[in-house]
Amino acid sequence: MTDFTHDESILARAGVDDDAAHGAVMPPIHLSSNYSFEGFGKKRAFDYTRSGNPTRTQLADALAALERGAGAVVTSSGMAAVDLVFNLLAPGALVVAPHDAYGGTWRLLMALEGKGAIKLALVDQGDAVALDAALRREPALVWIETPSNPLMRVVDIADIAARARNAGARVAVDNTFLSPVLQKPLTLGADFVVHSTTKYLNGHSDVVGGAVIAASQADADELAWWANCRGTTGSPFDSWLTLRGMRTLVVRIERQQQSARAVAAFLAAHDRVAAIHYPGLETHPGNAIAKRQQNGFGAMLSFDLVESVDVALFLDRLRHFTLAESLGGVESLIAHPATMTHAAMTPEARAAAGIGERLMRVSIGLDHQDDLIAALGAALKASDLKCDPEVGSGLVSHLRAKDALDSKLASAASDLKFAPRPPSK
Ligand SMILES: Cc1ncc(COP(=O)(O)O)c(C=O)c1O
Repeated sequence: MTDFTHDESILARAGVDDDAAHGAVMPPIHLSSNYSFEGFGKKRAFDYTRSGNPTRTQLADALAALERGAGAVVTSSGMAAVDLVFNLLAPGALVVAPHDAYGGTWRLLMALEGKGAIKLALVDQGDAVALDAALRREPALVWIETPSNPLMRVVDIADIAARARNAGARVAVDNTFLSPVLQKPLTLGADFVVHSTTKYLNGHSDVVGGAVIAASQADADELAWWANCRGTTGSPFDSWLTLRGMRTLVVRIERQQQSARAVAAFLAAHDRVAAIHYPGLETHPGNAIAKRQQNGFGAMLSFDLVESVDVALFLDRLRHFTLAESLGGVESLIAHPATMTHAAMTPEARAAAGIGERLMRVSIGLDHQDDLIAALGAALKASDLKCDPEVGSGLVSHLRAKDALDSKLASAASDLKFAPRPPSK
């Protein structure tokens, strides 16, 4: 474990100058799947990489230090980290989770409930009455995601953690959207923090990984036991890449959120934007809580297009933002949650969570903010059918014809024996 208290120093020094064999300044990567015994009955610190690996431990130690936890377990994906926490639950335990949780978390919770492994109460955690009603049912775990994906709703971690504790529940916070640099849920009373390290922590969109950080050593040990037992620990190579990516986390996120603020202000004032969801704006309902519990507002935001803007045309015209899942990388991304990140939710669940067909979610990367704003402005103009209905409808019918052709090709391909399956996300 590192001795530093500032995130920048933790990140700059993690595993540095730690190599007793050769004095390598930057940590070497230990890909070996197994480690020799010193002799009969004399195990070293590591024996088999599923249960423990030096490279993975360096990443886990850095994550635990960043989140001010007692220990961390590095997993093969963010979903493996989410699932790892649920391994601590007794059969039939009640989980209280947000009604607008990340689609993959929602799908896992629904599937676990569907087969009777847990009981589930999905609530709007910003609604104190609804939350109290759920807490009276004596949950074992309260799951928090703040800011939420994709609507950027903010809830008060310290308040919910205190109320959950009174109700006898443990608290886990998915901190993926902000990273430990901008929010430290364990210092606000949570028991567990979960990350998709795929996002800001790695930051370069070239690793899928996850982690759970526990406030207590006993919980960290139990999580490590389950991760080894289930075989969901992260690979050494991914761990090495993630630690390498994390070294620049503070400077990346500072620049990214600076651009996000500028983009949010631009969109908030734009007449083709019906609503903007960014906690950094004074008008955002979670602004006061975010100021209190966050160390910055982050670089994720979402917005609803006005009726006259054609969604398909907007996405087709938009430059600089890649239409793709995921977030937190150096590249700016745009996603259409209803058909992408949150497609796993039923339309009813999406409607209840407020995730509409006109909602766009963006992850602001390291591109220059002026380029991003210019790109958004140009696409909003080029996709507003009220501006030039003739041009607009011409383009829309072109896109619709292209879509129809694509879906015909897809259905023809699905008749073939070895046709690629559509993504299941
Ligand atoms: C908030 C949040 N939690 C968890 C996950 C799951 O992470 P992964 O895709 O690394 O499994 C995601 C993925 O987008 C996410 O956005």
